[in-house]
Amino acid sequence: MIRKILIVLIVLLIIAQFFRPEKNQSNDNTYHISTKYALPANVEQVLKDGCYDCHSNYTEYPWYSQVQPVAAWMNNHVKEGKSELNFSNFTQRKIAGQNHKFEEIIETVKEHEMPLSSYTWLGMHPKAKLSDEQRQTLVNWAQAQMDMLKAQYPADSLVIKRPPPTPAK
Ligand code: HEC
Repeated sequence: MIRKILIVLIVLLIIAQFFRPEKNQSNDNTYHISTKYALPANVEQVLKDGCYDCHSNYTEYPWYSQVQPVAAWMNNHVKEGKSELNFSNFTQRKIAGQNHKFEEIIETVKEHEMPLSSYTWLGMHPKAKLSDEQRQTLVNWAQAQMDMLKAQYPADSLVIKRPPPTPAK
């Protein structure tokens, strides 16, 4: 019985290899964060090593990420990550939204919520195990961008506007 179940599982795994998600690899950088914000080399390196795989339109795929079911699991992270924050089309957000994303970057990096811990399991992506110094570099950079926005835009335009409540009938 166990043997039969195992054989079925292996066959399913093999079949799954033929269904792989489309790769997230676009080189269109028209709205990349660097088109509006200064991105010093040391900051960009941390973003590349620690964030771009899930938060940009270009993911680097190690061989194991091509194997199902890992590929599907990773693809979900990329989809979810990009919907929250995408450095490749960052400047398409309203200015208040961009400001808010810098705030979230500061929070998540300080609190060690990002990069996702599963990203560095089992020795994967060792460069994404950020040191305190690298975290501080990112935090300082994001803070400097918020300061720059504050100096350039009217305070009101940096607040995300919620739609007014629907009037009671
Ligand atoms: C392995 C994929 C992965 C990596 C690497 C990663 N993230 Fe994320 N990130 C996600 C996912 C998935 C979400 C959405 C779900 C959640 O919040 O956990 C997210 C959400 C976020 C959010 C917004 C949501 C919130 O919780 O406030 C920010 C900001 C963020 N990430 C910043 C970063 C930064 C900065 C880095 C690099 C230092 C990074 N992430 C690296 C997958 C990743």
